Amino acid sequence: MSEQVDAIVLVGGRGTRLRPLTLSAPKPMLPTAGVPFLTHLLSRIRAAGISHVILGTSYQAEVFSAHFGDGASLGLELEYVVESEPLGTGGAIGNVAHLLREDTAMIFNGDILTCCDLGSLLRAHRDTSADVTLHLTKVSDPRAFGCVPTDPDGRVTAFLEKDPNPVTDQINAGTYVFSREVVEAIPTDRPVSVERETFPGLLADGAVVTGYIDSTYWRDLGKPSDFVAGSADLVRGIAPTDALPGPIGDFLALEGATIAEGATVTGGATIGRDCVVESGAVVDGAVLFDGARVRSGAVVRASIVGRDAVIGSGTTLCDVVIGDRSVIGTGIELLHGARVWPDVTLADGSIRFSADA
Ligand code: GTP
Repeated sequence: MSEQVDAIVLVGGRGTRLRPLTLSAPKPMLPTAGVPFLTHLLSRIRAAGISHVILGTSYQAEVFSAHFGDGASLGLELEYVVESEPLGTGGAIGNVAHLLREDTAMIFNGDILTCCDLGSLLRAHRDTSADVTLHLTKVSDPRAFGCVPTDPDGRVTAFLEKDPNPVTDQINAGTYVFSREVVEAIPTDRPVSVERETFPGLLADGAVVTGYIDSTYWRDLGKPSDFVAGSADLVRGIAPTDALPGPIGDFLALEGATIAEGATVTGGATIGRDCVVESGAVVDGAVLFDGARVRSGAVVRASIVGRDAVIGSGTTLCDVVIGDRSVIGTGIELLHGARVWPDVTLADGSIRFSADA
């Protein structure tokens, strides 16, 4: 990136959709393809040539500085701002204004995985002399999102709430470029939503708000199904990162992990540190946090298994979240978004779904 910009990364949310995993760690710190998710995002920011990064923290704020420190190990200069009460996605941006050094800031939601070319995004912002430029992505089913239509010149014309008949398939992809004046004008004495208040307010005031439409890889890791899919895409090299702690491949096994002969590990699965996958077990596209154990013949697909949790023999998990240290007995079937809280024990054979149900 030829001209310098500051980066602001929003990491202060409570991550409720990823509970119970976010009870013990903030969402951007959850292990994703072997490292905290934020490491992947920071590696992209560094690769784009940005070095000064401000993290807007609130929920479990201390965890970030304890892990990343001053950022030197990533080639970054990291600064932290803590909101004692969460200020929302807009207030969090205004709250770091005093640390900006440049006239332009690139702003990132801390849970987005994308191939969007940050240099091109910045060029689009400069070329249009915009006050704000938003990365917009096209999705196959826009009904689940608020939409952001643009005119033929790329100017944003509205910020629309979810609608059963959306007028466009373009949605806010969670990466923005703001002029410094826009950052400085956001109130910080109360919570502000950037999507519901700041952006519509800018349009109403006649500001130049431009859409940068890009249809490369994009995923919001806020839900368990997207979290596991995003992790698997990082492991297989489908999603970009410079922070993968191993070679790109069909799975990633971290230090001390044991995969028995006769076990099948595939689909971009991550086997965390000191995990054990016993003979005949299948781990497909799943994320096992450190110390988890999958006993013989168990099948774990597209699921997240918390730290030191145990999955019993012959048990099947598909699209579920298992909390830290929980023990799932033998011969259990858990499917379709089930969540088990930490430190729970499910007795052998206690839950099964009929195949015909
Ligand atoms: P859910 O509760 O599951 O919706 O997750 P979340 O709390 O992370 O909310 P959401 O996914 O809408 O947030 C988008 C991004 O903004 C995430 O990276 C959050 O960490 C961040 N964020 C949300 N609210 C705040 C806030 O009040 N302060 C700060 N600093 N960041 C926030």
